[in-house]
Amino acid sequence: MAEERIQKLKGFREFLPGEKTARNKVFKKLRDVAEKYGFRDIGTPSLEPMDLFLVKSGEELVNQTYSFEDKGGRKVTLIPEETPTRARMVKEHKELSKPVKWFSESKFWRYESTQKGRLREFFQFNYDIFGEESVEADAEVLAVASDFLETLGLDEVAELRINDRKMLEGILGAYGISDTEEVLKVVDDKEKMTRKEFRNELEDIGLTEENSRVVDEVTELRGSFENVLPKLENLVPDYEESQKAFKRLVELKQNLGAYGVLDNCVIDLSIIRGLAYYTGLVFEIFDTEGEMRALCGGGRYDDLVEVFGGEETPAVGFAVGDAVLELLMKREGLWPEEKVSTDVYVLTVSESVKKEGLELSQKLRDTGLSVETDICGRNFGNQMSYANSINAEKLVIVGERDLSSGCVTVKDMVSGEEEKVDLEEFTEYFSG
Ligand code: HAM
Repeated sequence: MAEERIQKLKGFREFLPGEKTARNKVFKKLRDVAEKYGFRDIGTPSLEPMDLFLVKSGEELVNQTYSFEDKGGRKVTLIPEETPTRARMVKEHKELSKPVKWFSESKFWRYESTQKGRLREFFQFNYDIFGEESVEADAEVLAVASDFLETLGLDEVAELRINDRKMLEGILGAYGISDTEEVLKVVDDKEKMTRKEFRNELEDIGLTEENSRVVDEVTELRGSFENVLPKLENLVPDYEESQKAFKRLVELKQNLGAYGVLDNCVIDLSIIRGLAYYTGLVFEIFDTEGEMRALCGGGRYDDLVEVFGGEETPAVGFAVGDAVLELLMKREGLWPEEKVSTDVYVLTVSESVKKEGLELSQKLRDTGLSVETDICGRNFGNQMSYANSINAEKLVIVGERDLSSGCVTVKDMVSGEEEKVDLEEFTEYFSG
């Protein structure tokens, strides 16, 4: 086979240094937000036994995995998400002090049909709290999600859409719609259909015309907590579970207010989430123009640790993916410039000063700066073009004449200004 025919796979990306630099800057902000709230970084395997995802992730996700038999005959899966792995880790580490607050930046793989914002290999940042069932834990997770929007400058163009599956099931139950699992699957796809198609689909799975109208109308309910809570008060039936879920939303409003993030949050009864393990609160982040797929998704999954054989451990969390994030930030002109940066380039005027050039470079590196110098035997002009290509902020020009008077010339590449710097004060000049 001719080697030039071997190309990268569809849905996989590669990043050149400038592209990677920009991505790293965004990722650092996501990490900083997690650390501000005391979430600790963890590491997880990329390959897991297939069974881990068969338990509770739901059919749709399992069908999208890269799964195969390894050489030892084990059925294994490249991780499509991290939540089951985390639940297993929490089960195994009973010694961890609660609440367990974890984040991580990892790569994930899903065999999806590729489209804008949907790839086969992507990054997610996951943030989860284990071991706490309070509304305060829900609010903290939502505050982290809102904080990263603010930190990246997206809070005006994206919003958190929040629902509670139990409350919705209760509302539908009160209308006699009890086989909610099938119904919720259709609701989950609502945004992809016209309202007529949506109602027809509900009738196709056995709902009466009247009930499909009810589901349609109820799941149209969306708006600020202020506006939607009074409407829900009239809708939510007197069942204990449904009332409990409703009261949590009321308390959530107060907590989100205290975190100062209520303005970024709306209630939206059409938010369901495809993953099967969510038990109550569910939420997603969408761009307010409705152009893109979800930027982030999460919710409460109180049973998952127990499903894996652990103690009762309520949990809540979410993940944000880098693909939609990049599209949205680029649309808003917020994605960092895709270029490499270098603090200093040490330019050696002649072969005779190479040794001094190397020594000065090392001195600067020891102060923590990123420094390059010539390793290709280039002349002055070619070193200068290279220094420009790596966006060196400062140039140290090392020449025989300067050295004999105990100095070097430092040029600021932005202003073009030059000055002589005494070798005695060389490192102080750069660390000052
Ligand atoms: P998810 O909704 O499947 O949730 O994924 C979360 C985010 O990951 C999505 O909103 C999207 O930004 C990104 N994402 C998912 N699939 C792809 C894809 N094929 N290409 C690009 N980006 C994608 C979960 O994974 C849950 N485990 C989140 C969670 C954490 N729930 C509780 N804790």
